Amino acid sequence: MLNWEDIFATRSSRMRASEIRELLKLLDRPDIISFAGGIPDPALFPSDAFRNAYAEIFVGDQAGAALQYSVSEGFLPLRQWLVGEMATIGIACTTDNIFITSGSQQALDYLGKLFLSPGDTALVGWPTYLGALQAFNAYEPNYDQLTLSGNRTPDSYQAAAEKAGGAVKFAYLSADFANPTGETVDRAARERLLALGDELNIAVIEDAAYQSLRYDGEAVPPILALEIAQKGSIEATRTLYCGSFSKTLAPGLRVGFVVGAAPVIRKLVLMKQAADLHSSTINQMVVAHVATRHFPAQIAKIRAAYGARRDAMLAALASYMPADTSWTRPQGGMFVWVTLPEGMDGAELLARSVETEKVAFVPGQAFFADRSNANTLRLSFSCANEQMIDEGIKRLGRLIAGSVKALAA
Ligand SMILES: Cc1ncc(COP(=O)(O)O)c(C=O)c1O
Repeated sequence: MLNWEDIFATRSSRMRASEIRELLKLLDRPDIISFAGGIPDPALFPSDAFRNAYAEIFVGDQAGAALQYSVSEGFLPLRQWLVGEMATIGIACTTDNIFITSGSQQALDYLGKLFLSPGDTALVGWPTYLGALQAFNAYEPNYDQLTLSGNRTPDSYQAAAEKAGGAVKFAYLSADFANPTGETVDRAARERLLALGDELNIAVIEDAAYQSLRYDGEAVPPILALEIAQKGSIEATRTLYCGSFSKTLAPGLRVGFVVGAAPVIRKLVLMKQAADLHSSTINQMVVAHVATRHFPAQIAKIRAAYGARRDAMLAALASYMPADTSWTRPQGGMFVWVTLPEGMDGAELLARSVETEKVAFVPGQAFFADRSNANTLRLSFSCANEQMIDEGIKRLGRLIAGSVKALAA
C-alpha cells in the first residue's frame, strides 16, 4: 500500500485539519446557540443589489467580458473604486498599487510564499488569526511573538530568528478589531511597529479584514496610512494592507485585495498568473457594481446591526459571568475574547457546554502559535440576535461559574 506521507513534501507536514473548522461543521445544529463561527450574518448581505448587478451585467454588452479570462491584477474599475476608497482612510495610491485576490486569505498565502523561506521567522500576535497561521505554515516558518509594548529589542527578534535558522521577514497583525480578540492597536503602538519594521528591515502585513466595522470610538489611521504620512509616498512604504469584501458585502464571492508598493504588487501578480490566472471576472464585476452604488449604505446597515449585538453581548457578559473571568470590550468587528481563571480549559468547557447548555464557542488555544493559553475562548456576536445572545451568555455564565466553583473545591 502506498504511504502518501512518504512522498509528500515536507511543507505538507504542518497542514493539519483545523480543529475549529472541523468543529464548526458539527455545530451547525438548530438547537445550539452558536458564538463559534466568525462569519457574517447572511440576512445582512445586500442580496437585491447583487441580483440586480448580475442581471445588468448579463443583459448589457459586458456579458462576454464577464465570462472571459481577465487580467491577473484584477478588474480595473474595481481597482479604480478602491483607489478612491483608500484615499478616504489616508492611503494615497494608484491602481498600480492594488491587486485583487480571491479573498484576503489568498493574499496571506501569497505573502507567505513571497517572503518566507523554510526556517525564516514570521512575527505574529499571541493570539492571532488562525487562518494566517494556516496560510504561513505551508512555507515552513518559525513564529515569534510580536509585542508592541516596546519591551523587546529588534536585536532580540533577530537573534531568535538566527537561532531558528533564518531571518525575520515580516510582522503580521490585524490592527482593528482583531480576530480573535476584538482588540484595536492604538496609534502609538502602530508607530512603534513601523519603527520596528524599519529597524529589522521587514515587511509589515496589515490585515484589515474588519477595519470598516467600527461601532464606536475614534478611527485610528491604518498602519499603511501612517507610514505614507511618514515617508511621503506609498512607494517608500513596507506595509502591505490586506483588505476584503467578505465582511462588508459577502464572503462567498471571494473578493479581497492588497494595497502596497508597486514592486510587491508586481510580484504578487506573477504569483497569481502561476496559481489561478485571476480572481473570478464576473464576481469582481458585481462587487464593483455593488460597491460603487451601495457601499456607504451597506456599511451603515451592518454597523448598526452588529453594534447592537456587540452591546448585547457585553451587557450579558457583565450580568452573567463570574467575578474571576475577564473579557475584551471591542469597538468593532465580530469577536469578544474571554479569559477564564488559570487552570480552566476552553476545549473541555466547550465539550460540556455543547452537551449540557447547548452553547458553542471556539476554545482560544488554537489561536496561539505555541498552543498555549488553554484558559481562553472566542465568542462571536455576528450571527445571533440580541435575545439569543442574552440567553446563550446566561447559560455559558452558569456553566463557567459552576466550573470555577468545582476548580476551587
Ligand atoms: C483576520 C482575518 N483575516 C482574513 C480573513 C479571510 O477573509 P477572506 O478570505 O474571506 O477575505 C478572515 C476571515 O475570517 C479573518 O478573520
